[in-house]
Amino acid sequence: MKKSIIITGGAGFIGSHIVRLMVKKYPDYKIINLDKLTYAGNLENLKDIEGASNYSFAKMDICDFEGVLELMKREEVNGVIHLAAESHVDRSIKDPFAFAQTNVMGTLSLLQAARLYWESLPEKYEGKRFYHISTDEVYGALQLDNPAGKDGKGPYGTEFFTENTRYQPHSPYSAAKASSDHFVRAFHDTYGMPTIVTNCSNNYGPYQFPEKLIPLFINNIRKRKPLPVYGKGENVRDWLYVEDHAAAIDLIFHQGKAGETYNIGGFNEWKNIDIVKTLIKTVDRQLGRKEGEDLDLITYVADRAGHDLRYAIDASKLERELGWKPKVQFEEGIELTVKWYLENEKWMDNVTSGAYQEYYESMYGNRR
Ligand code: NAD
Ligand code: TYD
Repeated sequence: MKKSIIITGGAGFIGSHIVRLMVKKYPDYKIINLDKLTYAGNLENLKDIEGASNYSFAKMDICDFEGVLELMKREEVNGVIHLAAESHVDRSIKDPFAFAQTNVMGTLSLLQAARLYWESLPEKYEGKRFYHISTDEVYGALQLDNPAGKDGKGPYGTEFFTENTRYQPHSPYSAAKASSDHFVRAFHDTYGMPTIVTNCSNNYGPYQFPEKLIPLFINNIRKRKPLPVYGKGENVRDWLYVEDHAAAIDLIFHQGKAGETYNIGGFNEWKNIDIVKTLIKTVDRQLGRKEGEDLDLITYVADRAGHDLRYAIDASKLERELGWKPKVQFEEGIELTVKWYLENEKWMDNVTSGAYQEYYESMYGNRR
């Protein structure tokens, strides 16, 4: 059966890397990018492949159940890779409703559309796949209990999130993602839909919206603006280069087992303040400034409400069962990432000014 795949959120950060990978690697697949183009969606991210014959774009809200069902029937869709979401924790603290709407109701609308369409076919779920991309934040927060990295365990803690860790989300963002994960598993258990869920750690790399730590800070260092470090900068995140995540998604989409959950992570824990110092030195060096001269941009500000202390993923199941491992070392990934943002100042300025939104509104109308 020829593959016809809807990738939701394909105009966003991670989605654009998956769309690009799939369009280039599988010329005989039909890749449909379904995206509402919120503030976080930008078709500029896909300029290099937008003319490919196996690629098409549908401006649509995942909550538009009728529209999604129609599209699935018309395109004879047999695979869904679902990334569309409201994704920024700070925004979820200000406007939790938008997160429940898109992340929970939107996921349910996609699931129900896929179910009704696939169950109407003679072969039903055979050859079908619904792959939901989620986050490690659903597991809550880990302790900082191993600062010396003893016992050969993580540098900051002895515990890791595994696929069996109890869900304990703290932010409206992670609560909404957790809820959507439960709906996906419920569709597997109740209707027999061949679903997969993956929970990944923090991604970084090109095309990330500059509200997230790494691109925001690169932009601010470039412009010599203050760097707002929440609390003491002691919080720990596990970072993965976005192309490694895209490679994992490709592998799991094709070889993962229906009904399973896989954790994806970088085995790469960093304290925020250490990342910030590394970014300053890297940007300074790449811009020909004296390395470290912008360290005084660091500004400690009030902590984020409910700020999770530490995330760390145990991705050994994925390595053991499907042979996946991250390829890009953090030092190399940061070097590449800083270089990309500095070489794409126009993209950054366009995104931070919001000019791209007006352009796409004039093309597709305002359905936000
Ligand atoms: P992003 O915010 O950069 O992109 C989200 C995309 O979804 C945008 O293109 C936006 O236009 C689209 N979208 C939002 N609401 C929509 C709706 N109602 N209908 C259709 N499209 C809509 O997000 P990202 O960082 O690329 O994250 C993608 C997915 O990966 C999310 O589900 C997120 O929870 C998950 N994830 C992200 C990270 C990370 O570090 N960024 C880590 C783990 C998991
Ligand atoms: P972020 O990139 O928002 O990802 P997440 O909250 O999903 O992990 O933030 C990464 C870490 O950086 C997190 O601990 C919060 C912190 N942070 C700051 O200290 N200052 C900032 O301006 C931002 C955006 C994040």
